[in-house]
Amino acid sequence: MKIVKLVSEAQRWTLDQRAVGNRVGLVPTMGALHAGHISLAQRSHTICDRTAATIFVNPTQFAPSEDLDKYPRTLDADLEKLEAAGVDLVFTPEPNEVYPPGFSTYVSPPAVGGTLEGASRPDHFRGVTTVVMKLFNIVPATHAFFGQKDYQQAAVISAMCRDMNVPIQLEICPIVREPDGLAMSSRNRYLSDDQRQRALGLSRALKAAEQQFRSGETDGPQLEQTMLDALAEAKVDTIEYAVIADAITLEPLPTIDRPAVALIAARVGATRLIDNTLLTPG
Ligand code: PAJ
Repeated sequence: MKIVKLVSEAQRWTLDQRAVGNRVGLVPTMGALHAGHISLAQRSHTICDRTAATIFVNPTQFAPSEDLDKYPRTLDADLEKLEAAGVDLVFTPEPNEVYPPGFSTYVSPPAVGGTLEGASRPDHFRGVTTVVMKLFNIVPATHAFFGQKDYQQAAVISAMCRDMNVPIQLEICPIVREPDGLAMSSRNRYLSDDQRQRALGLSRALKAAEQQFRSGETDGPQLEQTMLDALAEAKVDTIEYAVIADAITLEPLPTIDRPAVALIAARVGATRLIDNTLLTPG
């Protein structure tokens, strides 16, 4: 596995792979890797000839009040996991390499980034679209792999690629969960035993809404109430949102008459957790 820290090295490697006809898969991450991240690399292997991962805790997507400095950094363990997963190239730059002095161009996120996470975290998606566009140029891959775990992020990146004619094929991969249902996240390590238990409220609330939907309930507000009740029962500390939305636009959906998604953001202690599930009319 080749490890590079310079933009020029990552570009050269990718262009060399492309020149000999290899399909190259890109897996962007912020490190602190778990089985969810690794599943993206595994999916890449099934489609692509070479896989490149990036590890970069992107400062522009964190608000000043957020956990940029505290964000877990576990580079040695991450590299071991990527090597074991058969990744060919890892790009792990210093912040200055990505944002050198004088950097001043940003990608304005699409409309689908305006609600939910975009409302709770102003400027977050602007940081994401900017860094992802840069990563697509630094590693000009044929395919890029993202997780459904960050549903709105995937929708934002899809819209950006469509709107900007970015020549890359996106693959959105299923959410990897712990055996008890908790969606894997780099932030789960902050949870105490009690908080870890209460964090199960998110996946339980989604399951409850899903079950109710499967047994015929299509009323958005009713399904939202079911999620709120389950979250309250699990004693999460703050519910930021628990909504039923159009799966494409993420606008609120009064009745599920087209593909929908249930999305939750909640805090347990100081840790902010998100989770979601698709609800597709049969
Ligand atoms: P990060 O949070 O490290 O996540 C990297 C990728 O892993 C994202 O596409 C995310 O959706 C996916 N992922 C995380 N947890 C997952 C799980 N439990 N199952 C499946 N996939 C999962 O998302 C980011 O980094 C950043 O915003 C980034 C896109 C790298 C831009 O900085």
